[in-house]
Amino acid sequence: MPINRSKVVIIGAGFVGSTLAYTLIHSGVASELVLIDINKEKAQGEVADLNHGLSFVAPVKVKVGDYEECKDAKIVVITAGPSIEPGETRLDLAKKNAKLTKEIVQNIIKYTKDAILLIVTNPVDILTYVAAKVSGLPPHQVIGSGTVLDSARFRYLLSEHCEVDVRNVHGYILGEHGDSEVPIWSLTNIAGMTIDNYCKVCRKCSKEHRDEIFEKVKNAAYYIIERKGATYYGVALAVRRIIEAILRNENSVLTVSSVLEGQHGLDDVALSLPSIVGENGIRQVIELPLTEDELEKLKASADKLKEVIKDLTI
Ligand code: LAC
Repeated sequence: MPINRSKVVIIGAGFVGSTLAYTLIHSGVASELVLIDINKEKAQGEVADLNHGLSFVAPVKVKVGDYEECKDAKIVVITAGPSIEPGETRLDLAKKNAKLTKEIVQNIIKYTKDAILLIVTNPVDILTYVAAKVSGLPPHQVIGSGTVLDSARFRYLLSEHCEVDVRNVHGYILGEHGDSEVPIWSLTNIAGMTIDNYCKVCRKCSKEHRDEIFEKVKNAAYYIIERKGATYYGVALAVRRIIEAILRNENSVLTVSSVLEGQHGLDDVALSLPSIVGENGIRQVIELPLTEDELEKLKASADKLKEVIKDLTI
């Protein structure tokens, strides 16, 4: 069946899945949105609520569905599964959510092997790896939201600290979307200057300030979860950004997660590196000129994820 080039199926109508649907109807980038949830009534409620607002946004068909709706989907997003509770890390969810993701992917590939799989459920790097292995799809077609949100948090917090528009702050968080993530300070730039040169201007982003900013980035989800119980606005906007890059074939550089094939000497693990994202998923994973220290931290992040993977039955 021909692919509808702007049809998005979202599996999981919880906080993240329903917020993603809400942001997507504002973007105008999808012509058809299907929500699938094991709790059909929940999906029906979310879809009805979204449809009642359609006269205020660009035309889009929003409906409840089941896995058969994947057959002509361009992107299938997986948001289903429990998120972390206060005191938990994302990796604590690995066994439970790997089993669920395996079942979901097995259902998806009954209907399509052409859709791009976009994994959001945590631990997203582990589940991206699981989805790639279970589906048998090539790494460029199985994308995790990875550290797209973390890089956005990094840019925001640095922009606030240096009192400059976030659109003039560029930088990456790479590796695990989680506690072993890595800030790439050596390639961070503000107003076209390296952070070291910019620091001569703003005099506020020296080493100890940077460590403090990165701690806030790394622990951002815990800060939010302690206060409101879950995160969903930031991650939904990050996933919408990835979907826009695919559906509009933007060839945008985003720090999405994917199974590596030798980049930085790493393979058989999924983690985030800057990647060119377009209509076919990941066109190219970019190997940055990292410092020795950054490379060492990236490899440590990969090792931590591999430790978890080896205990899974995939
Ligand atoms: C967060 C979740 C999506 O970082 O892992 O907010």
